[in-house]
Amino acid sequence: MNKIVFYGSGNISQAILSGLISSGYDKNLIEFVDRNKINTQRAKKLGAKKITLGRIDSKSIIFLGVKPKDAIKAFDEICSVIKKPKIVSLVAGIKSNKYLSMYKDVELIRAMPNTSSRYNKGITAIYNCNASKTTFNRVSIIFKKVGTTIDITKENKIDDFTGLIGSGPAYFFYLLKVYEKRILKLCDGDRSKKETIICNLLEGVSYSINDNSNLDELIASVASKKGTTEAGLKSFKSSKLSQNFEKGIAAAIKRAKDISVEF
Ligand SMILES: NC(=O)c1ccc[n+]([C@@H]2O[C@H](COP(=O)([O-])OP(=O)(O)OC[C@H]3O[C@@H](n4cnc5c(N)ncnc54)[C@H](OP(=O)(O)O)[C@@H]3O)[C@@H](O)[C@H]2O)c1
Repeated sequence: MNKIVFYGSGNISQAILSGLISSGYDKNLIEFVDRNKINTQRAKKLGAKKITLGRIDSKSIIFLGVKPKDAIKAFDEICSVIKKPKIVSLVAGIKSNKYLSMYKDVELIRAMPNTSSRYNKGITAIYNCNASKTTFNRVSIIFKKVGTTIDITKENKIDDFTGLIGSGPAYFFYLLKVYEKRILKLCDGDRSKKETIICNLLEGVSYSINDNSNLDELIASVASKKGTTEAGLKSFKSSKLSQNFEKGIAAAIKRAKDISVEF
C-alpha cells in the first residue's frame, strides 16, 4: 500500500480518510498537513499522523484537499519542496493547465469525490492529467476502497461531476430539511425516532432503486389515482419543483466553471 498525505485535512479529506481506515487501509500509511486546529484534531482522532511539508516522502500520493482560494498557493508549497510529486487535486474548478503552467515536473490527477466516501459509498470521478499509468492505477485503487470510481477522459466533465456528485449529498440534505421538520412534529420532537424514520425511508428508497431502476415505475407503485401521493406530486409539478432542482444543479456546474477563471 502507498503512503498517502492529505494536504488540507478538512471535510472531504476526513471523509476519504475515514473510509480508507474502515476499509482496512493501514493507518500508519496515512499522513496529513494542516494549519487548522480543529481539522488537525479531527484528522488525528481518525488515526492519521500530522506531519510538516518538509517530512512528506516524495513517493507519497498527495491529496490536495484545500479550498479553491488556497489551492494555487498550496500547490506551489508542495512543488517547491518535493521533487516530481504525485498530486491528486480534489479541488473544484481549477484546471490542470493552471497547475502545470506553474510546475511541469509533477504527476497530476484531478479527482472529484463526495462525502459519502466516509461510509465507503463514495462516488469519485478521476481524470488523469499527466500521471503515469502506475500512479493513476494506484490512485484508482485508493478511491475504490471508499466507493465507486468513474474514469473521465475529458477534463471539463469534472465540472459536471462537481455540480452533480461532489455537491450532490447537500441537495438531498437540503430537500430533507422540509421533511425532517414535519417528521419531527409527527414524533412529538423525539429526535432519535425522527432519525430512524428518515434513515429507513432513504434506505427503502435505495433498495427499491436496486430492485427496479425505472423511477416512473417506482413512482407509479406508490401513487394511486386520486390518492394522496398523486395530490402531492401534482402540487410539486405545478410549482415546477423538477425545473427548479435542475436549475440548482446547473448553477453549481456553472460555478465550477467560473472558479477556474477566478483563481
Ligand atoms: N466538501 C466536499 O463535500 C467536497 C467534495 C468534493 C470536492 N471538494 C473539494 O475539496 C476541497 C476541500 O474542501 P473541504 O470542504 O474539505 O475544505 P475545508 O473543510 O475547508 O478543508 C481545507 C483544510 O485545508 C487547510 N489549508 C488550506 N490551505 C492550507 C495550506 N496551505 N497548508 C495547510 N493547510 C491548509 C484549511 O485550513 P483553514 O481552515 O485554516 O483555511 C482547512 O483545514 C475544495 O477545493 C473542494 O472544492 C469538497
